[in-house]
Amino acid sequence: MLKSQKDWPEPIIRVQSLSEGCIDSIPDRYIKPPTDRPIVNSSSNDDTNIPIIDLGGLNSDDLDVQDSILKQISDACHNWGFFQIVNHGVSHDLMDKARETWREFFHMPMEMKQQYANSPTTYEGYGSRLGVEKGAILDWSDYYFMHYLPSSLKDYNKWPDSPSSCREVFDEYGKELVKLSGRLMKILSLNLGLEEKILENAFGGEEIGACMRVNFYPKCPRPELTLGLSSHSDPGGMTMLLPDDQVAGLQVRKFDNWITVNPVRHGFIVNIGDQIQVLSNAKYKSVEHRVIVNSDQERLSLAFFYNPKSDIPIEPLKQLVTPEKPALYPAMTFDEYRLFIRTRGPCGKSQVESMKSL
Ligand code: OGA
Ligand code: NI
Repeated sequence: MLKSQKDWPEPIIRVQSLSEGCIDSIPDRYIKPPTDRPIVNSSSNDDTNIPIIDLGGLNSDDLDVQDSILKQISDACHNWGFFQIVNHGVSHDLMDKARETWREFFHMPMEMKQQYANSPTTYEGYGSRLGVEKGAILDWSDYYFMHYLPSSLKDYNKWPDSPSSCREVFDEYGKELVKLSGRLMKILSLNLGLEEKILENAFGGEEIGACMRVNFYPKCPRPELTLGLSSHSDPGGMTMLLPDDQVAGLQVRKFDNWITVNPVRHGFIVNIGDQIQVLSNAKYKSVEHRVIVNSDQERLSLAFFYNPKSDIPIEPLKQLVTPEKPALYPAMTFDEYRLFIRTRGPCGKSQVESMKSL
């Protein structure tokens, strides 16, 4: 059994500080093995993108319009595990405010941010690594992690208290994103051929979890040697990412290729996490993704994770298990499940794959 540990295995170095001192090289700790290195600034004008879905018609009385949106989401879940949504109902002003407030936070003096330095026990606060393996190769990013739900885990003392408006802004942002995630969960449930409440109920109903990781990717003088975030699938249920409005960087795996997502203005990037793969008995699959960095612009993104209640068993839904399609995964709580990424750091889809019971 994996155990969480109290402290980091070695002193933490903030990538943001490193970036300020690196002119034309990066420390070896951040250099990836050749097979993991990205191709950056590729001049190919490939305009492949993940699907963009307009949710505006969901409230329409026209059932054909609603069906068409559900169908687009179903196709995107099957073919990509990733899509962007627009007309999702979250105020654009709130999205911009949340992003800019976090940008301000990361630009505050280091002593201010250090007050929130995190540890691997809960990961809450200001961090610079995922995983506790001594000597691991690290990613070119810093982050801030915090809980929003359940309310028993929401702890304002672990949220930044400046910029001054931030607690208010993040509260409002969390509220809107929980609402939006709930709407999408219903659609996913219907698309899986289930009643609309089933998926949400399997997540623990009223007691679902929600947390946020704000990723800060400083400029990097050698982007071709490293990654902002190594390949991984999200361990939780479903993720809503608010990407940087200026700088691309997220790449999604499609067979053996990495597709760079071209973010649509004021959209959210939605992706399926491992827990929905398990519950859906692999009808929907989580998809590997990673982040590339660049030499002349920093990048900031807000990942909102909508998760099952952390101490209930998550296993393939009975309705989706048949003699022809037996349960592919054993039951496991999300608390147990996420210890893996918290100990070993991001490593593709190795965890959900290793769980296969057949
Ligand atoms: C994540 C993630 C992508 C990004 O936080 O899990 O995949 O673009 N982030 O920052
Ligand atoms: Ni991710």
